Amino acid sequence: MEVIIREATLKDLSNLAVLKQQVWISTYATDGLIQKFSDHVLSEYSTENVRKSILDKNKLTLLAISKNCLIACVEILLIPQRPVKKLEPSIEISTFYVLERFQGFGIGKKLLIECFKVIKQLKHNEVWLTVYYKNQKAIDFYQKQGFKLIGEMDFVLGEDNHKNYIMVKEIE
Ligand SMILES: CC(C)(COP(=O)(O)OP(=O)(O)OC[C@H]1O[C@@H](n2cnc3c(N)ncnc32)[C@H](O)[C@@H]1OP(=O)(O)O)[C@@H](O)C(=O)NCCC(=O)NCCS
Repeated sequence: MEVIIREATLKDLSNLAVLKQQVWISTYATDGLIQKFSDHVLSEYSTENVRKSILDKNKLTLLAISKNCLIACVEILLIPQRPVKKLEPSIEISTFYVLERFQGFGIGKKLLIECFKVIKQLKHNEVWLTVYYKNQKAIDFYQKQGFKLIGEMDFVLGEDNHKNYIMVKEIE
């Protein structure tokens, strides 16, 4: 599959918002929709929020495009953070979504390689991310790409806390 990777612009706004909503629901609403999920998706991935995110100078959004269609996105937070004391301030991959029917074809790996290049250019050697502890498919994917589990943190959704693993990779 021929895939182009490029930075997002405001022209991608609607497609990017729908991609995020669709992948979030297909990944986490495994038993169907409940109000908390729908509210989260509609507010977090509203076109207004996605517009802010594209324009955010502290964030880089890379898109995977095939046949002129959006099929995946990844976001990098350019301000180094330290999620646990044992990690030096490092760059975070904050969002990583491949449309369901395009998962498993190497698109995620291609996007990760681009992320590593950007992070290296920023003179960083480590990258971290969080992943829901029950999202085994993503955990397996990250482990295969060399990420190691180094801790836990909660993702707060409404009044509930959801355990996430913190994973880190040293980039050669
Ligand atoms: C997780 C995700 C980003 C991975 O992207 P992808 O395009 O499906 O993965 P790829 O096809 O690039 O896989 C690359 C490699 O990982 C391996 N891999 C992918 N999924 C795997 C799994 N479930 N178990 C083991 N290995 C896996 C592939 O076999 C491939 O191995 P190779 O390097 O030997 O060829 C994607 O599936 C996704 O968007 N999932 C839903 C949203 C999500 O969970 N995002 C992460 C939130 S933290």
